[in-house]
Amino acid sequence: MTKKTKIIAITGKGGSGKSVTTALMTKLLTEKYNKKLLLIDADPTHPHLSYLVNLIPERTIEDLRSEIIKSSMNQTLEVEEVARKIDFKIYDLIKETKKFGLIAIGQPRIEGCFCPLNSLLRSVIDSISKDYDFILIDCEAGLEQINRKVIKNVDIVLIISDMSVRGIETVRSITESAKTFTNCEYIGLILNKVKGSYDSLLEHITNLNLPVLGKIPEDEMISQFDLEGRALIQLPENTPSIISVRNIIEKLLNQKSNE
Ligand SMILES: Nc1ncnc2c1ncn2[C@@H]1O[C@H](COP(=O)(O)OP(=O)(O)OP(=O)(O)O)[C@@H](O)[C@H]1O
Ligand SMILES: [Mg+2]
Repeated sequence: MTKKTKIIAITGKGGSGKSVTTALMTKLLTEKYNKKLLLIDADPTHPHLSYLVNLIPERTIEDLRSEIIKSSMNQTLEVEEVARKIDFKIYDLIKETKKFGLIAIGQPRIEGCFCPLNSLLRSVIDSISKDYDFILIDCEAGLEQINRKVIKNVDIVLIISDMSVRGIETVRSITESAKTFTNCEYIGLILNKVKGSYDSLLEHITNLNLPVLGKIPEDEMISQFDLEGRALIQLPENTPSIISVRNIIEKLLNQKSNE
């Protein structure tokens, strides 16, 4: 293996648990495995990851992008030119703790500019990845960012599903898109909010033909932390969801060393 950084995209249907899974992985990868991590909050509509990991950047990619566009009022800038200017200042946007950094795409403020923001995100991912062991991208729900090749150059695509047929059907479409539009070497399914028996879903899950990396139980502690607005990276280590995510990471790290 020549490349050091592993880029992991965390995808799935809306509300399936992408941000929660990203936050729990962050806790474990930094505290337990001592990895250098960059988080990318790539969700322009529900940018919640910052709160789950208690690291809120002062400025987003969108802030920088609108500044650049405003400062060149009379010129129409090509996406590539904005990308080049952003590249130059990208490190200013990363909020860092000793353990990890976070960069957020932000919410588009200028009408009709949604796609360019996604294009800029692609260039950001490509230019900053080399400085970290892992990059975790908390994606927008659904297929948009995959189909637009925003997350083309990723190594691993994790698809999160809740325990619903709709969730599993979304996994199917994301898998097809990930195979078509990304260069990923591994796609894995994570079942989230698992409780009780789920016999009626088993056939749907088996038909996906995807490795099930793990099952995260519905966890009262997550709901309690949600209620109190507390960051999930402060969850105790013996919390059921943390134990499951730890197993998932073990599998991912072993899979990495098997390459
Ligand atoms: N394992 C779990 N146990 C209990 N609650 C959970 C679990 N996973 C997620 N949740 C809750 O479900 C809700 C949705 O989770 P989350 O925000 O991570 O989903 P998401 O896929 O990122 O959503 P969006 O598509 O809006 O970005 C949150 O209120 C979260 O606290
Ligand atoms: Mg989210």
